[in-house]
Amino acid sequence: MRFLPALILFTAVATAQPVRVVGTPPVFVLDTGHSSYVLGVNELGSLQHVYWGSRVERGEDWGAVRSHRDSAFESRAGMTPEEYPAWGGMRYNEPCLKATTASGVRDVVLKYASHQVRGDALVIRLKDTGTDLFVNLTYRVYPGSGILSRQSEVENRTGETVTLESAQSAAWYLPRGNGYRLTHLAGRWAGETQVIQEPVEPGIKVLDSRRGNTSHQANPWFAIDESSATEDSGRVWFGALAWSGNWKLAIEQTTSQQLRVVGGYNTFDFSSPLKHGEALKTPEFFGGFTDRGFGEASRMLHRFALTEILPASSREKSRPVLYNSWEATTFNVNEAGQRQLAGKAAKLGIELFVMDDGWFGARDNDRAGLGDWYVNRKKFPNGLGPLISAVNQAGMKFGLWVEPEMVNPDSDLFRKHPDWAIQFPGRPRTEGRNQLILNMARNDVKEYIFDLLDKLLVENKIDFFKWDMNRHISEPGWPQLPVADQRKLYVAYVNNVYEIIDRLRAKHPGLEIESCSGGGGRIDLGIMRRVEQVWTSDNTEAFDRLRIQEGYSYAYPAKEMMAWVTDVPNMNGRTTPLKYRFLVAMMGSLGIGANLNHWSEADSKLAAEMIATYKEIRKTVQEGSLYRLISPRAGNLTSNLYVSSGGKQAALFAFLHSQQFRQEPPTIVLKGLEPNAVYRLKPVDEKLAERGRELSGAYLMGKGLNFNLTGDFDSTLVVLERVR
Ligand code: DGJ
Repeated sequence: MRFLPALILFTAVATAQPVRVVGTPPVFVLDTGHSSYVLGVNELGSLQHVYWGSRVERGEDWGAVRSHRDSAFESRAGMTPEEYPAWGGMRYNEPCLKATTASGVRDVVLKYASHQVRGDALVIRLKDTGTDLFVNLTYRVYPGSGILSRQSEVENRTGETVTLESAQSAAWYLPRGNGYRLTHLAGRWAGETQVIQEPVEPGIKVLDSRRGNTSHQANPWFAIDESSATEDSGRVWFGALAWSGNWKLAIEQTTSQQLRVVGGYNTFDFSSPLKHGEALKTPEFFGGFTDRGFGEASRMLHRFALTEILPASSREKSRPVLYNSWEATTFNVNEAGQRQLAGKAAKLGIELFVMDDGWFGARDNDRAGLGDWYVNRKKFPNGLGPLISAVNQAGMKFGLWVEPEMVNPDSDLFRKHPDWAIQFPGRPRTEGRNQLILNMARNDVKEYIFDLLDKLLVENKIDFFKWDMNRHISEPGWPQLPVADQRKLYVAYVNNVYEIIDRLRAKHPGLEIESCSGGGGRIDLGIMRRVEQVWTSDNTEAFDRLRIQEGYSYAYPAKEMMAWVTDVPNMNGRTTPLKYRFLVAMMGSLGIGANLNHWSEADSKLAAEMIATYKEIRKTVQEGSLYRLISPRAGNLTSNLYVSSGGKQAALFAFLHSQQFRQEPPTIVLKGLEPNAVYRLKPVDEKLAERGRELSGAYLMGKGLNFNLTGDFDSTLVVLERVR
């Protein structure tokens, strides 16, 4: 397809629509309200990236799209920032698509074929120059959010099988240049979502999961700045992939100063044969831009998750205060013990009582029972009914732990269906936590799991599932399929898990779900579309939590971050005061995971007071704007401020690690308030110097506040109510 640049016509558009098509060949101008994203068809007929950054409203500014010049050893096509480059021709960077036809051709060159504007979405169809292999690219603009999403669908109409070896959601380009910095979240079990910052150098940095789920080790989120952005200033480009399986982000700085981020399905052990007529969709990849630093990038993602990602039925509701029995009882659950805990939990103001692992099959430890999802009659002689009634009568909802994707070799399910576990025939199957993984990619397994969860919900008044996954996939064989198809397991597995959740939710509209994977192993926008909350980490030790929660907050909102108050000494053998533990957990969706039978009267009194305070500020914490005032990585004081959406309330948290040399903690300078407004300060304790005062936003954001925090693990909370 050839276009003459002379034919280009530009249209001035007064009010920016989310998707504008300007000229011929078309230039597409996407307006997110805070940023513009521009792409167009160049003189070679390829779809080319033009711009991603601050908002440019004037349509006339976008001229003809011209490919990049070539240079020695580089083709014009290879130098051009193509929106969705396939591996073909002289292209050497990370491709979005790599495919082999049954007849042995491994060259794909995609050109623009057509486009459609569908409301806030733009769909562009690309076609391979030599075959009828198509790619449909969807760009969805979320007006006013600063965020757009990208997704691709590869469609085989070639008449023969085409095997995809890479299928990415998108390639994002940053302005040509050097000196960028990458921020990402790395971790491990009990140490998830640690903020990592590193310079971007020529070459490829890969962030990925090969574990079959999102992983504790890396999270499918990135931010890139020009090495100078702060919490409050500087240009930040960021993205989050909505996928809970094997994923990959390749951050590539070319030696021609072009930074690109290609992301989608992990190419490792990936192979997706498509017969004629079949198509493969990639996960949605969300991207945003701000020139107001990392703080605003996070707030944009938080607002977006709360308004577009969180299940619609839960957007207007605050998250309830939850009790979970795991750390109190581990597998030793029974009706009397749970009733006792429930009675105590209700008195504290708990709203949702969750019974964790140990209630089913022969589940007395982690060596048996997974797969046998029927109530253990020794522990619950009359089923779950009496416990659920007691919980409901005490004014709480009832939640139950399940781990549906797993099976213990010591279980009735495995004895009946040993072939349902993921395996390579004749090879050992590694057991993680003494368990194997059911091949959820199989439709018979999917239907079985759906039916048993559905039965549990039909037979019991269950309001909430904590859906766990306590090991990662290994030895990913699927012997029932031809060898060439077996690697479809990774994608089909996740899609079937998603489908089960979607169907359960549709059939049981009141059902709420927490995504857990041995802590924070399954936190991403793909699962977050289907669940109310995520379990952040099995590490509930409050000081460690400050770092884990900080990293989480870069990408995801407080409302969906489950945070428990647990007993001490906890992880690392550390002991912190109960108030400190409460205040740390109150920066998310509050839960208690302690053994209430061990609490003194004073502990229970403090807990009831803290829960009551939390209920006063939870809308602000869960749905307000977060300002990370002082990072736990910066020194021995940590402080976060949450400002309610209308600006009427704010909640200021401060945590001292350890005082030394009788030094006083630094002044905390607030942000995000109305300078001319006046706020009444309501501290929860005696730590605030400016007690009993009403202060202006200007004062709080200029002079700031001083706290008398002393010793080790001191902490405080001040609630600010706007009075004028
Ligand atoms: C791992 C979870 O993260 C814990 O909270 C708990 O539910 C255990 N699994 C139960 O086996």
